[in-house]
Amino acid sequence: MTAAPKTIYLKDYTPTPYAIQHVEMTVKLDAQDTRITTKLSVAPRSNHPSPLVLDGEGLALHGVAIDGKPLFESAYSCKDNKLTIHNPPNAAFSLEISQGCNPSANTALSGLYVSNGIFCTQMEAEGFRRFAFFYDRPDVMATYRVRLEAASELPVLLANGNPVESGKISGSNRHFAVWDDPHPKPTYLFALVGGDLASIHDNFTTSEGRKVALGIYVEKGKENACAWAMESLKASMAWDERRFGRAYDLDVFNIVAVSDFNFGAMENKGLNIFNDKYILARPEIATDSDYLNIERIIAHEYFHNWTGDRITCRDWFQLCLKEGLTVFRDQEFTGDMRSHSVKRIEDVKSLRIRQFPEDQGPLSHPVRPSSYMEINNFYTATVYDKGAELCRMLQTLIGKDTFRKAMDLYFARHDGEAATIEDFLACMADASGRDLSHFARWYQQAGTPIVEVEESHDGKSDTFQIKLTQKTPPTPGQPTKLPQHLPLAYALLDDVGRNVKNGLIELRQESEAFTFDGLPRRPHLSLNRGFSAPIELKENVSTEELLFRMGHDSDSFNRWDAAQKLGMKLKPEKQARIRRIPRERHAAACAMPSSRCLP
Ligand code: SER
Ligand code: ZN
Repeated sequence: MTAAPKTIYLKDYTPTPYAIQHVEMTVKLDAQDTRITTKLSVAPRSNHPSPLVLDGEGLALHGVAIDGKPLFESAYSCKDNKLTIHNPPNAAFSLEISQGCNPSANTALSGLYVSNGIFCTQMEAEGFRRFAFFYDRPDVMATYRVRLEAASELPVLLANGNPVESGKISGSNRHFAVWDDPHPKPTYLFALVGGDLASIHDNFTTSEGRKVALGIYVEKGKENACAWAMESLKASMAWDERRFGRAYDLDVFNIVAVSDFNFGAMENKGLNIFNDKYILARPEIATDSDYLNIERIIAHEYFHNWTGDRITCRDWFQLCLKEGLTVFRDQEFTGDMRSHSVKRIEDVKSLRIRQFPEDQGPLSHPVRPSSYMEINNFYTATVYDKGAELCRMLQTLIGKDTFRKAMDLYFARHDGEAATIEDFLACMADASGRDLSHFARWYQQAGTPIVEVEESHDGKSDTFQIKLTQKTPPTPGQPTKLPQHLPLAYALLDDVGRNVKNGLIELRQESEAFTFDGLPRRPHLSLNRGFSAPIELKENVSTEELLFRMGHDSDSFNRWDAAQKLGMKLKPEKQARIRRIPRERHAAACAMPSSRCLP
């Protein structure tokens, strides 16, 4: 029987008593009994000796040695998914562990497994412990040198980092490959692949002059459907340099696509692994949205190289630090490559369909939860998509140029570290000179704020007033809510949709009024332009006003949103009339531009 899962709390975070700085590893691939030997460079973090307790799940332990001397069995214990070394030395030492796992029996697809004859790994969030004993948590970052050995039936052997050497093992039908990753990384970014794979190759020269060999590996026969993925990769590499000044940092970048993969894709350092549905495309087999998704997901995983890999998360509570930020970055990329308006509309549609119900239902949780029992349950629309909205709001609040400066500061300050949301917000605050302590509440408080709008015009004083009231309904575990800091982009429009005034309202209190003068004529209000805050706007707006917005609002998102609201506003009897249109006439009507399809 396995023990009941324990609740883990953010407030209980403590660093490990030992750092593991470097790993030398040999992996002998075998479907039933893969042997892994690790040589860990361990250093105590303090002078107070304490046991060294490593994670390991379902592993066969074959031996433990310290500084080359095998340990007596009394010096360690291996039970309840932990390997405990009772009295490690209190100065730096080398810990050698020999262990084994069974990849073909791994149907959870977490750790090392076999998919269609290909050995591959998925270590996020806690898969490494099913492969080798280690501190399987993101704040223990080490450099790795990995030697892979396999039979000749697995000719392609890949791991993180740069290739060092490869060759035949004399006297056998086996061969080896050595990979070196000079960038410290946590276990969840470790990856290896062994298989008989087809591949396509290209290269990219970075702005720093590094020539990077690019490879995409797929099951044999699928290599003629990888060209778009390769184009998308090169476009992503160029965009991250242009927009965020981030160049790639290894000599190779490889992607492997397999047909069995739990996540859509995974950002392992230098060796991304994908579900091949997000790699393969040819005009005969793929739709426009398949092409879009491939471009987007390749970009997402590539952008993790800086937001996730070079700077990772201190603990899994900080998951949104890498995921929200990287989703925001891939959204900006797609907008730049295609259309910001269309992208924003698609993202808000998905937020409303997937995240809003989550935020308003029994599974509602903050973007950064304060406790969990199973971290795999927190790969949610809230962490990813609302997390991205928080980054977008920060960019709106401090401006795009300052946001870039804040990101530069974040990379400079935390490169090679495992960081927190507080670290990220401190960079935003320091670069902008703004106090973001109220904004930080977005990370802790779940639920979708509802903002009520009342507008009034005074012809005597030529003033226009907007009164805004915000309320966030209770969510599980959070019965009372505090007001959020909301950036609401606005414009006041004349009768042909020209901006008379525009800017940003920052709503901080539960209720606030904003008055604009010099307006003898009542303007049309365009609020929360570009969906600048992830809220529900409650306005009492007439059909005429919605028609005005659809035709004239200078914000493309609000033009689209007005059409949605008008559709919702249609009286039920009118909807019934539409339903009664005979099938062939309805088809003809619906082929017309959508605004003309309305009765
Ligand atoms: N870390 C992976 C990703 O988001 C798995 O979801 O890219
Ligand atoms: Zn991601």
